[in-house]
Amino acid sequence: MAAAELTDDGRARVLTDGNQIPLLALGVWQVPDGPECEDAVRWALEAGYRHIDTAQSYGNEGSVGRALRDSGLSRQDVFLTTKFHPGRRDPAAELQRSLELLGVESVDLYIVHWPQGGPTRAWEGMQRARDSGHARSIGVSNFGVSDIEAVLGVADAPPVINQVQFSPFEFRRGLLESCERRGVVLEAYSPLGTGRHLGDRQVAGIAEHLGRTPAQVLIRWSLQRGLVVLPKSTHRERIEENAQVFDFELSDEDMTALDGLDRTGATDRALERPWW
Ligand SMILES: NC(=O)c1ccc[n+]([C@@H]2O[C@H](COP(=O)([O-])OP(=O)(O)OC[C@H]3O[C@@H](n4cnc5c(N)ncnc54)[C@H](OP(=O)(O)O)[C@@H]3O)[C@@H](O)[C@H]2O)c1
Repeated sequence: MAAAELTDDGRARVLTDGNQIPLLALGVWQVPDGPECEDAVRWALEAGYRHIDTAQSYGNEGSVGRALRDSGLSRQDVFLTTKFHPGRRDPAAELQRSLELLGVESVDLYIVHWPQGGPTRAWEGMQRARDSGHARSIGVSNFGVSDIEAVLGVADAPPVINQVQFSPFEFRRGLLESCERRGVVLEAYSPLGTGRHLGDRQVAGIAEHLGRTPAQVLIRWSLQRGLVVLPKSTHRERIEENAQVFDFELSDEDMTALDGLDRTGATDRALERPWW
């Protein structure tokens, strides 16, 4: 099964379970709970983001929920992702806690944060979370090809997303192609290398000749591959800058030059050094 298509406006992807996911999200890893997180989410929603990526382990679901409520936007207009902390026991029970913190009745996407305890350990509970209607879509994160295959081998409801570290410098082509073939949409986390890739000379050169910024070039590279991309910032002007990525294109030549920055050898693994 091939992974599904873009929507007509080119800003969302249709998942194989039929739900739509906006391509651009604000990520809030390492953003402290409280005013800093609330501001970042508020500014993002004001700048037109319609997708927020948080996690149980980030400890800031409460702030995300408050900013969402204060925005005045309808719940169905904002795509909300949280992630199951796999060190905990039951994904369905943990989701209830997340929903209370977020102050919502359901999340749009619920992801196993990493394959702790083995790739299939959490999946039965993830499916229960989906069956209850409290998670509209379910997926995984930091899963390599063999992990995805293991889940597909036991799943009644297959994962529709794999969220992994992905950028021109971590161009996991083997993993991307395998996910696409299996109908699993890839989400690019740390698209700016947690800031490390912004100073690269080649990225800066492409940005300069396009009159754009390095962050916009890196985000655009993922978008042109049809990927969901999750840049993080707590600065209003950067949050706005990172959203100005639908009004220009990278040429085939620029895409090829960026592809050449890969340091993973086109791997099908999710990470070189797992932390779990
Ligand atoms: N599933 C997982 O295991 C996992 C792991 C890592 C990340 N993620 C997700 O991916 C998201 C993004 O990844 P990330 O947090 O590693 O970082 P990132 O988005 O790759 O980079 C963020 C860094 O770049 C800076 N920055 C952002 N936009 C900028 C701009 N336009 N100009 C200059 N600097 C800019 C930010 O600084 P300021 O904030 O100070 O502006 C921050 O230091 C996370 O927030 C999370 O949602 C998931």
